[in-house]
Amino acid sequence: MANLRSLRLLFKATALLAAIFLLIFGFGILRYSDRVLRMQPISTGNVNHASAETSGGVHIATSPTTAPTGLPRKANDNLLAQAPEYIHAILNASDSTFPRLECPQPDLDRYDYLKDPPDQSEASQHPRFFFALDLHQCIHLLPRLLGSIVEAIKFLGPENCVLSTVEGRSDDGTFEVLDELRSSLQALRVKYFFQTSDINPTAPGTNRIETLADLRNLALQDLLAHPAHYDPDTTVIFLNDIALCMEDILELIHQRKWQGADQTCAMDWTYVGDNPTFYDVWIARGMTGDTFFKIPDDGSWDFAWNLFWNDDKARARLAAAKPFQVFSCWNGVTAFTAKPLLDGRIRFRARGPGECFQGEPKLFAKDLWAKGYGKIAVVPSVNVEYSDEAAKKIKALKGYVARHVVNEGDDGRIDWETKPPEKVKCMPDYQHQAFVDWDEGLRSRFLGKQKNGR
Ligand SMILES: *[C@@H]1O[C@H](CO)[C@@H](O)[C@H](O)[C@H]1NC(C)=O
Repeated sequence: MANLRSLRLLFKATALLAAIFLLIFGFGILRYSDRVLRMQPISTGNVNHASAETSGGVHIATSPTTAPTGLPRKANDNLLAQAPEYIHAILNASDSTFPRLECPQPDLDRYDYLKDPPDQSEASQHPRFFFALDLHQCIHLLPRLLGSIVEAIKFLGPENCVLSTVEGRSDDGTFEVLDELRSSLQALRVKYFFQTSDINPTAPGTNRIETLADLRNLALQDLLAHPAHYDPDTTVIFLNDIALCMEDILELIHQRKWQGADQTCAMDWTYVGDNPTFYDVWIARGMTGDTFFKIPDDGSWDFAWNLFWNDDKARARLAAAKPFQVFSCWNGVTAFTAKPLLDGRIRFRARGPGECFQGEPKLFAKDLWAKGYGKIAVVPSVNVEYSDEAAKKIKALKGYVARHVVNEGDDGRIDWETKPPEKVKCMPDYQHQAFVDWDEGLRSRFLGKQKNGR
């Protein structure tokens, strides 16, 4: 009997794993870090997945030739009618209309210096915090997500900040809220860019990664087009559709400054079952060049609990909630230097000839390394999830930033390595994993550019 029961359990576990595998990978490798990539809903049987994930449809898209400048769509009257409630919640941190992730009052003294201009003598009047988002069908997240961003903007000084959102093909009111937010943000004196696009990157014949890279660049459009309008020391804060607190944002910016980092990332999680698993495994690579957890070629996430199984250094730092260097990360929310973007040296892109198939955030990290911006780090005291409900659970489990700050020792600083790992795991899909040169394809890329006189 016992044997039969354990056999049955094993069978159930296998079936569950298969369903999870389908969910995560059956979607195509595109449903990686980035919820912009959410694919059509599939029947998931007994896997209780976050409702947000079944909202379906890869969202926004645009192509370089049709980058929208105006707003081609009109607000829906019914959806418009519900917008004020959301706007109020976004602007008022203590509004309780929506059940959102609760956020503690952070230790603001810690972040006070972020308000000061980096170079007093220069007294630059230009913004130096650029908040960027690509959003689709996530109105339920806006009170928390945009609320925390607005809080951070108020704290950092609205005149120092820019908020740039790109919305695509939402019919749940996301468009209307983002549109209606304009006047409130104007009153706050924060510069706001809002664009929308209805091109579908999952449409047959579309290069999805290229489309997603275009979307990211679209969110950064003003910064890319008018570098002189920005402080040379600008930080871009790029956020997925996640639930997070103001302190999460400020801590990522603080760690970028304090560590002298070029990019800092959170840890993002997903609840597929009762236990959370690290989510952004398709993009993230440690200094070993390997994934954050082992994925066998059957694609199972059985080893997701065992983060940095082959990387003692990162493992110890993670356990102590101290920042550590990685080759690449995105992890739901990231803060990075705008310098190479302002200098026109880097943009989001899809893979070129001779490069492994990979997502644009990983290529972004690779290009950062190539241009000498390899101080990329994960800040494990910042933990986010993709719904308010699950973010509450992850905060309860991993702790809010403020809790970790109290226990900060004197070994908080990262001992930066100046060279990337020689080989980095290429994972076009789970069945085809291989270590390749970290800079594969880059030499010919640069040579080609030189030949073309660029
Ligand atoms: C913010 O919301 C709280 C709780 O609903 C309310 O008491 C307060 O008056 C609001 N503040 C503003 C400025 O609207």
